[in-house]
Amino acid sequence: MSADLKRAAAARAVDLVQDGMRLGIGTGSTAAQFVELLGARVRSGLSVVGVPTSEATHRAAAAAGIPLTTLDETPELDLTVDGADEIDGSLRLIKGGGGALLREKIVAAASRRMVVIADGSKQVATLGRFPLPIEVVPFGLGATRRAIAAALTRTGCAGELTLRTGRDFAPFRTDGAHLILDAHLGRIPDPDALAAALAAVPGVVEHGLFLGLCTGAILAAEEAGAIRLL
Ligand code: 5RP
Repeated sequence: MSADLKRAAAARAVDLVQDGMRLGIGTGSTAAQFVELLGARVRSGLSVVGVPTSEATHRAAAAAGIPLTTLDETPELDLTVDGADEIDGSLRLIKGGGGALLREKIVAAASRRMVVIADGSKQVATLGRFPLPIEVVPFGLGATRRAIAAALTRTGCAGELTLRTGRDFAPFRTDGAHLILDAHLGRIPDPDALAAALAAVPGVVEHGLFLGLCTGAILAAEEAGAIRLL
């Protein structure tokens, strides 16, 4: 997705922000465009507070001049704007391509509304083309991995689990110092069953299936200026 399309989706999301709102602020390159545009509105007098979903977003939002808070000070949010790696027609998501899924899900769950901003190509008929991120604690990785593999099989999913690495080829660490296993599934026939099975595995901190959290989406299509709303 070009930066222009990301910016177009982000600009439509900024229009949803009203004075006095308590915001969840997403992570990723599309959410970064939202941060930039929101910062400009704040500098022009818009009054909001935001809860960032990652250390990277915290830094960007602070640099843009957006007043920040925490879910301890502000446990209920009006609106979260975040990117996604996949979205289906029922507003079910795969997130976590940037590794921020845990904080993203906590913030989305604390929000009355969650609006996804994304490239139209991220809309799919069936979730699973994008590898599903599963955040795990480092302790017991081998056993946790086996239990996840069994959970995948039980719920009709087949595919490889890979440990995510960073640019230095060392294991990627999330903001919570956890690891990520990416599940290359191709398709997820029953996202609810898989979400429940993964949540029951000791050692799994969170997974990237966002079910029943997203309330709307702004998808920027390739055609100039075309925005699809879900
Ligand atoms: C980070 C995420 C991102 O929202 C997702 O990866 C989309 O990122 P981008 O806007 O850069 O395509 O879930 O954990």
